Amino acid sequence: MEDKLFSVKGKLCIVTGGLGQIGKNFVQELYSRGARVAVFTKHLTGERIEKTFPSAEYSRENLRFYSVDINRKDTIEAALDQMLEVWPEAPDVLVNNAGIDTQPSAPPEVSGPFEQFPESVFREVVDVNLVGTFLMCQAVGARMAVSGKGGSIINIGSIYGMLSPVQDIYAYKEEQTGVPFIKPVAYSAAKSGIYNLTRYLATYWGKKGIRVNTLTPAGVWRDTQDETFQANFTARMPMGRMSQENEYNGALIFLASQASSFMTGSNLVIDGGWTAW
Ligand SMILES: NC(=O)c1ccc[n+]([C@@H]2O[C@H](COP(=O)([O-])OP(=O)(O)OC[C@H]3O[C@@H](n4cnc5c(N)ncnc54)[C@H](O)[C@@H]3O)[C@@H](O)[C@H]2O)c1
Repeated sequence: MEDKLFSVKGKLCIVTGGLGQIGKNFVQELYSRGARVAVFTKHLTGERIEKTFPSAEYSRENLRFYSVDINRKDTIEAALDQMLEVWPEAPDVLVNNAGIDTQPSAPPEVSGPFEQFPESVFREVVDVNLVGTFLMCQAVGARMAVSGKGGSIINIGSIYGMLSPVQDIYAYKEEQTGVPFIKPVAYSAAKSGIYNLTRYLATYWGKKGIRVNTLTPAGVWRDTQDETFQANFTARMPMGRMSQENEYNGALIFLASQASSFMTGSNLVIDGGWTAW
């Protein structure tokens, strides 16, 4: 029996940053459930596409790729116009997943004390994570609103946008290298803005049937991470592990489908208990 409650079959979905670690899982899940998916991303190459989504497994009928910098309105509008040529309707779902963060491997210039944190880097990180999400909501939400059919916008937040990072987790860096690593302010400040952008748009478009919610992930395990970082992060996590990269898919399908039809302006936290203490 087809599961109508959680169905995304035939829905037209845009996923920004859909070749990244979490984004590619969102794309796979939506595609495998019969959605039509458009990946909007920077750093798009034929090789990267084929490696992540081989054309033998993923029909280009239902999965398309557009070169988009979410900070540039012209690239967003051009991609939406190109999409119209193959899918002549407004999108049903927008997943604002593209983002940038400072990894523990970052150089000291961008991971030093707050007092010296470069303004240019603060602006860049806010630009991608917050302004880029704003621009995508504006362009796609406008099309959803005109269409009259509603839609679901899912903004990807972060535990570091809900709470401040726990700096102790990164203290090992100074022990290893003699240079302190301070998890920077920029990502936290930018991600925190996502929560009220979400609430604002939920109320603004509420009567038009456009639902807007945040999905909050926690730290995802990556084989390139420093083992001490993984151990420190895990020690702080009530569930005693980092997440796998596909553990947000269930929440995504819930938010994209009718299953969440009365949910808007809200925040779905999938964090292994990080924010529970
Ligand atoms: N990985 C984690 O531990 C974690 C934890 C909490 C929240 N998140 C959030 O989840 C989302 C995905 O994270 P991820 O770890 O998969 O990241 P990732 O770096 O693997 O992927 C992000 C993708 O966004 C794209 N991108 C960056 N800037 C862009 C721009 N200006 N325009 C278009 N595309 C752009 C990149 O090309 C990349 O493919 C992000 O919003 C991130 O902040 C991640």
